[in-house]
Amino acid sequence: MARIYNFSAGPSMLPEPVLQQAQQEMLDWRGSGMSVMEMSHRGPHFMAIAEQMKNDLIELLAVPANYRVLFLQAGASAQFAMIPQNILNGKTKACYVNTGAWSTAAIKEAGKYCEVQVAASGESTAFTTIPAYADWRVDPAAAYLHYTSNETIHGVEFNDIPDAGDLPLVCDMSSNILSRRVDIGHYGLIYAGAQKNMGPSGVTVVIVRDDLVGLEAKNTPAVFSYAQQAKADSMLNTPATYNWYLLGLTLQWLKGEGGVVAIEQRNIRKANKLYQAIDDSSLYRNPVDPACRSRMNVPFVLADATLDKAFLEQAEQQGLSTLAGHRSVGGMRASIYNAMPEAGVEALIEFMAEFERTH
Ligand SMILES: Cc1ncc(COP(=O)(O)O)c(C=O)c1O
Repeated sequence: MARIYNFSAGPSMLPEPVLQQAQQEMLDWRGSGMSVMEMSHRGPHFMAIAEQMKNDLIELLAVPANYRVLFLQAGASAQFAMIPQNILNGKTKACYVNTGAWSTAAIKEAGKYCEVQVAASGESTAFTTIPAYADWRVDPAAAYLHYTSNETIHGVEFNDIPDAGDLPLVCDMSSNILSRRVDIGHYGLIYAGAQKNMGPSGVTVVIVRDDLVGLEAKNTPAVFSYAQQAKADSMLNTPATYNWYLLGLTLQWLKGEGGVVAIEQRNIRKANKLYQAIDDSSLYRNPVDPACRSRMNVPFVLADATLDKAFLEQAEQQGLSTLAGHRSVGGMRASIYNAMPEAGVEALIEFMAEFERTH
C-alpha cells in the first residue's frame, strides 16, 4: 500500500521510521515479551522509556536546568485554563497577544480566571500580520504575557521572541515546537500539544521555569497543578503511556536527522519553495505578510474559488491529502511539519503548477 503525503494540520504525518519501529516493537518491546501499551507505568521498562524520552526532549531543546518538563493530558486546550490557574499567583490580570484563532481561544479561556488585557491584536488585518512590538501595550502589573508562536489556522509565525519586560513570557508552541531553534531561557513557560511535530495526540509538553511552579490557586485540581505533576514526574495519574513512547521514538528520529538545527534548515527550504511557487503563480495567493509567514502551515486561496473542489479532489487522487483550509477560514492549507519530506512539498508544488496550467 502506498503512503500518501498528508498535509493535515494535526494529527499529522509521523516519520515513517517511527511507525515502522513501533510496528516492529508492537508485540514484544525489546525482549520484554509485551507491548508498551501493556506495561505498568511504574515498571522498569516504561520508566526507562519515559526517562529517555524526557532526556531527549531536554537535549533537543537545550532546556536549562531550572525548568521542569511535564507531559500532561487534555491537550494544549487544557493549558489555556491551567496557565492562569497555576501562575496568576494572586494577580488579577494577564496580558495576551492575539494573532489568530488559537490566541483567541486562549484569551477566551483565560477570561474565566482573570481580566485579560489584549496587549496587541492582528484582528484588524484579518490576522495576516503581527502587530509591531512598539504598539504592544503590556501592563507591568499583569501576571504574565502570553502569545502563540505559530498560528496553525492563519499561518502566522513569529520569527523572534517578544520582549515581555519583567513579566514571565508564556508561549503556545503547539505547531512549531522543535521546528526551529529557540532559546528556552527567555520563557517563563512554553507548552505544546504533541500531534504536530512530536508524535500522536494525547500528550502535551509543558516546560515551566522553577519560580512559576507552586503558585497555583488553592482550588486547582491535583492533576492540573504543575507543582504536583512536577513532583510526581508527570505520573500523578496514569500517563498516556503509548503516546509517550511514540513521542520518544519521534524525538529519537529527530536526533538522527541532526536535531533542531538540521530540521530547521530543511523546514526553511520546504517553506521557501512552497511560498515561491505560490507567489510566482497567478492562481494561488497567500494573504500573510511575508515577514511573518509560517514555515509550518501555509494557507492559500485560489483566485477562482469555484475551482476549490476540483483542486482538492485532484490533489487527493495524486496522494496529496487534507489540503482544505480550516473550516473557519476556507481556502487551502498545507501543513508541512518536520515529518513532511521535501519530496512531499515538491510533489505538491508540481501538482499545483499542473492544476494551474490546466484550469
Ligand atoms: C497553536 C495551537 N494551540 C492549541 C491547539 C489546541 O490543541 P489541542 O487540540 O491539543 O487542545 C492547537 C490545535 O491545533 C493549536 O494549533
